Amino acid sequence: MDKLVNLTTQDGVAVITIDNPPVNALSPGVPEGLLAALDVAEEDPLVRAIVVIGGGRTFIAGADIKELELAASGRGNGPPEFHAILASIEDTSKPVVMAIHGTALGGGNEVAMAGHYRVAVRDAQIGQPEVNLGIIPGAEGTQRLPRLVGVAAAVDLCVSGKPIRAPEALKLGLIDRVIEGDLLTGAMAFAREIAEKGGALRKTRELSDKLGSEFVDASIFAAGRDQARKTRRNMLAPLKAVDAIEAAVNLPFDEGCKKEREIFAECLASDQARALIHAFFAERAVAKIPDIPKDTAVYNIRQAAIIGAGTMGGGIAMACANAGISVLLKEVEQAALDRGVATIRKNYENSVKKGRFSQEVMDQRMALIHPQLTYDGFGQADLIIEAAFESMELKKRIFAEIDQIAKPDCMLASNTSTLDIDAIASVTSRPRMVVGLHFFSPANVMRLVEIVRGKATSKEVVMTALALAKKLGKVGVVVGNCWGFVGNRMMLPYMREAQFLVEEGATPEQVDRALTNFGMAMGIFAVDDMGGIDVQWRVREERKHMEKPGLRTPLMLGKLFHSERLGQKTGAGWYRYDENRKPIPDPEVHALIEKTAREGGIERRHITDDEIIERCVYIMINEGAKILEEGYAQRAADIDVIYLTGYGFPAYRGGPMWYADTVGLKQVRGRIREFHQKHGEFWEPAPLLNKLADQGETFASYDAAREHAMAVA
Ligand code: 3HC
Repeated sequence: MDKLVNLTTQDGVAVITIDNPPVNALSPGVPEGLLAALDVAEEDPLVRAIVVIGGGRTFIAGADIKELELAASGRGNGPPEFHAILASIEDTSKPVVMAIHGTALGGGNEVAMAGHYRVAVRDAQIGQPEVNLGIIPGAEGTQRLPRLVGVAAAVDLCVSGKPIRAPEALKLGLIDRVIEGDLLTGAMAFAREIAEKGGALRKTRELSDKLGSEFVDASIFAAGRDQARKTRRNMLAPLKAVDAIEAAVNLPFDEGCKKEREIFAECLASDQARALIHAFFAERAVAKIPDIPKDTAVYNIRQAAIIGAGTMGGGIAMACANAGISVLLKEVEQAALDRGVATIRKNYENSVKKGRFSQEVMDQRMALIHPQLTYDGFGQADLIIEAAFESMELKKRIFAEIDQIAKPDCMLASNTSTLDIDAIASVTSRPRMVVGLHFFSPANVMRLVEIVRGKATSKEVVMTALALAKKLGKVGVVVGNCWGFVGNRMMLPYMREAQFLVEEGATPEQVDRALTNFGMAMGIFAVDDMGGIDVQWRVREERKHMEKPGLRTPLMLGKLFHSERLGQKTGAGWYRYDENRKPIPDPEVHALIEKTAREGGIERRHITDDEIIERCVYIMINEGAKILEEGYAQRAADIDVIYLTGYGFPAYRGGPMWYADTVGLKQVRGRIREFHQKHGEFWEPAPLLNKLADQGETFASYDAAREHAMAVA
């Protein structure tokens, strides 16, 4: 037997175990091995029933995405073909029971649905997450799923891409039993029950009672398309998934499958699928640090302590408590501490109200957060995170203090978003234990953590930070110690360029509309108003000494700051805000922009949306290329992950550097050269961009070449 798939027989039940670590993906050899094992079991007169189970930590987590990546880029053998295999499973004359633990995702669930029965442990997760990769289920999932769970649930599962747990799957009819205790024992007992009962085997493809009718289902499809447009703006695959489910209702099974295959192939060949598959692997590559072995020992973080109970500190405390980590939360004044705790409580209460978790879970989480005004207990903490005001002087004072109290192997982290982590570490006796952990607001929600590696930060500390990010359900990206690290360093020119654009003739709402149409989660001026004009103003003032004298500066930021239009918090900034904090375009701002431009001798003109996108996005790409060449990011793909998980860059464009590759680096560089001519020094093309454009290369090929060079070394 192929060792990717193993067969054993016990008391009349054949157990087929998929063994393709780490996640039992349907890589070449697995479907074939499964078929071969089924054939043997089918022929064996002693076998009365068959159980298919995953070895290791999971059932089948889906088709092999590496194979899909090859097919999407026109390499490899084209999209995988599962039809014959699934039909063979379903046509087996003995009951086939799929035993699910871990995850049955995508192709995993599709294989499971071809079995006659499905059982699962309580915490197993089952779903069709293909839309996250820009594709639809391509192994007949859109045809079998509605037959098992009904059309509405199938649409929801395929459009949202969100998996469900076993008890919900049972309610929907996706599985037949939740197994308490050992899965294999339970699945074998279930298989024997079925064999003893005898009778015809239930083939999913032959079910039709939950399919409804063309007429009845029309409103479900319309609602599904609405859901797709709202939750997955500008994306092709979720809408196409609804089309495929519609085919399940309107066509016989085999024709529906054919339609699904056509749509699957169309989606797989799209730029969106290529970008999202890139994002999938990029998100996993960030945890690989070229000079740090994978098996480096990490510190165990059981007790954390946070300094500062403001927006950031409170959010980080919630992120820790959500992951079961006990947190000491320190403030300097009782009023500030009370405010911080009240905000945490309110956030949790809102989640309970929305049904995200129970009151009991909220109580457990609140009990893990210990508000205090002193450093009591900090001596036992495994990790101390400073989340105080962004001031070097203050941070140095705090680090000098905690260095005295913390145990020797306690990690000391700063949540700074721009400041020099080496300078902060220099006031301690243990720079090797100091690291930047740059969380993004709201820290209990946003997935990104920039892990700032100082020149002395130890490898163990870097790996612990990565492990911690994973434990918190976040994506940790290791970055170097330069101003603003990666994310904010690129954000600065982006904001500056947007401000130049309004001074030259656009309005804030036009810029924001162009950016959100491009796919950004929020427009830059709405972001500015949310973060606070005063915060941005202070950042600019603090950075002044770093800027080359004589460079052009946007004028409007100062005007807003001095007229106390500080953003959402004062009800006015680039926009005016109503009581629901809805941004409303403001004629006063328009007038102020025009006056400012006049005074500054700036001639206003019509600005197109294309120019807005090019200037806002290309300036980021150019900065990204500098960051990459200077070594502050390890890979172009890391920059993409930062922008996808922390800055609302549209996932289906793969991140700024991937997007540049899709536009073509020659084309991007060409426009940058033109902007350089017109708008001056800020636009000087990055040397790496020049080099790659000249060589006809891409950022992706740059990453691949470096990875290859490191592997060889
Ligand atoms: N194909 C290939 N490799 C996969 C994979 C897959 N389906 N799923 C995970 N991997 C790899 C990851 O790249 C990673 O590799 P690495 O160690 O070399 O970086 C390794 O498995 C472990 O993955 P994670 O780090 O993500 O492990 P976690 O334990 O955190 O998560 C998981 C496990 C929930 C299964 C998560 O990996 C996941 O969500 N995987 C993708 C699931 C998915 O999208 N399935 C659908 C695929 S498309 C499909 O099936 C099409 C079909 O309809 C025809």
